[in-house]
Amino acid sequence: MRQIATLLLMLAGFWMTSKLTPSPRTDDRLPESSSIPEKKDRSPVDLVLTIDERWLLTANQGTGTVSVVETASGKVVAEVPCGEKPQALALTADNRLLLVSNTWSGDVAAFRFDPDNGALQPDRKVHLGFEPRGLAISPNGREAYVALTTEGTVAVLSLPDLTVQARIEAGRWPRYLALSPDGTRLAVGCNGDGGVAVLDVFQRKKLFLEDFFGLNLGQMHISRDGQYVYFPWMVYRQNPITPRNIQIGWVLASRIARVRMDEKARREAIALDPQGQAVSDPHGLALSPDEKWLVCAASGTHELLVFRVEGLPFVDYGGPGDHIDVLLLQDQERFFRIPLGGRPVFVRFSRDGRHVYVANYFENAIQIVDLHERKVARSIPLGSASEISLARQGEMIFYDGRRSLDQWYSCHSCHYEGHTNSVTMDTRNDGRFGNYKVVLSLRNVTRTGPWTWHGWQKDLRAAMRKSLTETMLGPQPTERDIDAIIAFLETLTPPPNPYRLPDGSLTEAAKRGEALFHGEKANCVRCHKPPLFTDDKVHDVGLGVPGDAYRGFNPPSLLGVYDRVHYLHDGRAASLEEVLKKHHTPESLNGQELAPQELNDLIAYLRSL
Ligand code: HEC
Ligand code: HEC
Repeated sequence: MRQIATLLLMLAGFWMTSKLTPSPRTDDRLPESSSIPEKKDRSPVDLVLTIDERWLLTANQGTGTVSVVETASGKVVAEVPCGEKPQALALTADNRLLLVSNTWSGDVAAFRFDPDNGALQPDRKVHLGFEPRGLAISPNGREAYVALTTEGTVAVLSLPDLTVQARIEAGRWPRYLALSPDGTRLAVGCNGDGGVAVLDVFQRKKLFLEDFFGLNLGQMHISRDGQYVYFPWMVYRQNPITPRNIQIGWVLASRIARVRMDEKARREAIALDPQGQAVSDPHGLALSPDEKWLVCAASGTHELLVFRVEGLPFVDYGGPGDHIDVLLLQDQERFFRIPLGGRPVFVRFSRDGRHVYVANYFENAIQIVDLHERKVARSIPLGSASEISLARQGEMIFYDGRRSLDQWYSCHSCHYEGHTNSVTMDTRNDGRFGNYKVVLSLRNVTRTGPWTWHGWQKDLRAAMRKSLTETMLGPQPTERDIDAIIAFLETLTPPPNPYRLPDGSLTEAAKRGEALFHGEKANCVRCHKPPLFTDDKVHDVGLGVPGDAYRGFNPPSLLGVYDRVHYLHDGRAASLEEVLKKHHTPESLNGQELAPQELNDLIAYLRSL
């Protein structure tokens, strides 16, 4: 079904691009956007503009396509398949080569773009694995850089052939990145390390990491002089969830920071949250071309935050305080909020600095915000489903900061895109204070009950009610809200495994590990049963501590276990090696010690799950 749909879309894409040559210049010769057959949510996550702003290209996560929009008329003139779950776009300075990173298909796709007529032709692809995300192209157009999230590297590709030149170690979970205007340095938001890594592009190496316990680092922008990288993020203040702690910004709060690009120095930050009406999930960020204005898309509160750059009270040590600076809040000439609705994720400035283009995921549209008028001037629809499905409604709740007390955070703030923000948090889920637990990934979660690390929760509906009213201290959900969230959770599955051979089979080492895992000697399968590599029981494997509310733990599913920053319920292990050598040894579980080679094989198998 899905393949047929993709094929149709592909044909439509090629048909439209071919129909466009030779260059139609007037509006009436462009195909109607309604001629795109499929009624599906486009869910755009990024956009780029040609230099003259005549064309706008969007990455549509919902359909795995790129749309070409004629900006003036707002017409979608072509839509071309690019891969599964596209995340980022980059266009060369001559506007003729477009790159797309596809997280799920694990590749970067190149397209030839013709700025004379808007035709977009697929050129080639390179498979990299490991969830490619943030993209940048060197000023001379000869190299591209792509963050490989689950490998912790930035791949350097030569253009236009997409040959891999190098993989630079960046840090854990790099998502977005930015290249300095002179093309010498890359800033990379490393979410697993809670900071920003600065890489030297020519030496192909990491210079330093400025870490500050930053979560969910968003879109990055380097100032024209190359001195600072600006980006939004969230801070977890490590206090238990109570109404007062939330309200004073002591649980999760939103920030914008800047980090020096030339040498390691303490990040300088501003707080974004007004008392009583906070901001959540800040995601997109851009500076105006003259650097007088800074805008930030707060995706959880569905708004654009606009700041005058001059006089912004960036503070390094000890700062920036729990709420937005009072003087800034009171001055409408220095700070204002523009409601956008939906889920605004990525932003780009117009050349004249007056307009901001916003990729809005739930609106299925590109919004053009007029900063003088302080409102959305136009909205360009990219295409959507004929009705909002139950799962989509659940997804909207999942990303909605307004579901929490004073709108400080959403499910996504902790379970980033349905996965995890990786840190240990005290949600008081087990009824006590001070029991910090690794935020569980929600991939396959509807199939892996009982829930929570201790496995005490047997009722997923009750768990969802509890998340909304106790973890978020938000309003009571309706039964339909719960149905919707569960329908959304049903859609969450792990990405294709990057450690398997191209045909999906196991390496020789992983095959030997498989035999151990399932055999008498290690017998891991006793508790981690296929297909999800968990079971429905609670086991005491000797990892509890005094003060635990419950005894024993439910084995976490091992599918996708390669992709963790912290392992075990309290995050005490930083790698699979550490789990099996120190805390959860085959010997302690099954009485038989494994030889070093066997342990390596077992780990190779775990990585391939
Ligand atoms: C403040 C961070 C935070 C927020 C917000 C949050 N969660 Fe969680 N969630 C956690 C943590 C931490 C755990 C693990 C708790 C434990 O095991 O005791 C968890 C566990 C879960 C589980 C059980 C997973 C499993 O495999 O057993 C589900 C399902 C879940 N959360 C869904 C949600 C949904 C849906 C929302 C929004 C309505 C939400 N969470 C909001 C932090 C959060
Ligand atoms: C007696 C049941 C049992 C057996 C046997 C068992 N496990 Fe586990 N496993 C668990 C439980 C329970 C946890 C969670 C413990 C915790 O977090 O404190 C766990 C956690 C893990 C984790 C950490 C996952 C994460 O996301 O943090 C890995 C990896 C793992 N097991 C691998 C193995 C391997 C490999 C074997 C065989 C050598 C094995 N287990 C045997 C019950 C078991």
